[in-house]
Amino acid sequence: MEKLTGLKKIKTAVFISGTGSNLKNLIKFTKTKKSPISIDLIISNTNKATGLNFANQFKIKKKIFNFRKIKIIEKKILKLLEKDEIKFICLAGFMKILSKVFIKKFPGKIINIHPSLLPKYKGLNTHSRAINNKDKFAGCTVHFVNEKLDSGKIILQKKIKIKINDNLASLKKKVLKQEHKLYPAAIMKIFN
Ligand code: GRF
Repeated sequence: MEKLTGLKKIKTAVFISGTGSNLKNLIKFTKTKKSPISIDLIISNTNKATGLNFANQFKIKKKIFNFRKIKIIEKKILKLLEKDEIKFICLAGFMKILSKVFIKKFPGKIINIHPSLLPKYKGLNTHSRAINNKDKFAGCTVHFVNEKLDSGKIILQKKIKIKINDNLASLKKKVLKQEHKLYPAAIMKIFN
């Protein structure tokens, strides 16, 4: 990945669908001097994503796209990304699957955070699957996005212990706390 030269930060878009706690955390990280990226655009597939409030709060441009006609929408998004000179994309709780065509336009420049120890538990309901399987560990992973769901090269991973009295809510909370540390660390790792 290209090294940082001078003070210019890499213009980044964050894609969300929900609460946006990772988004908020990334925004805070990008305000620090050490951050190699700046967040210049927030994209959501739904106006119900409460994380969009962070766009208002931190005065970041936001756009909502209805993904029903994915080919058309992706073309529109690509145009916008080009216009806004976005060079890097962070998926943060984004619930739509980007097409091969889209991903190829940003080779090695799209990353995602996933709430499991990949390659275990790709897809949804990771925590309930871990609990139901009586796993001893859970965790989170930041990885590059490729054409296969949750299958790109792993950048960083954090493992945590599942305690006997953990339930879905407590596990989700504990993993999310680690996600908030892992995502910035993964970005630092990529660009340094
Ligand atoms: C996180 O657990 C993330 O790993 C997963 O979706 C959740 C999004 O949470 N992909 P938030 O919207 O960032 O709070």
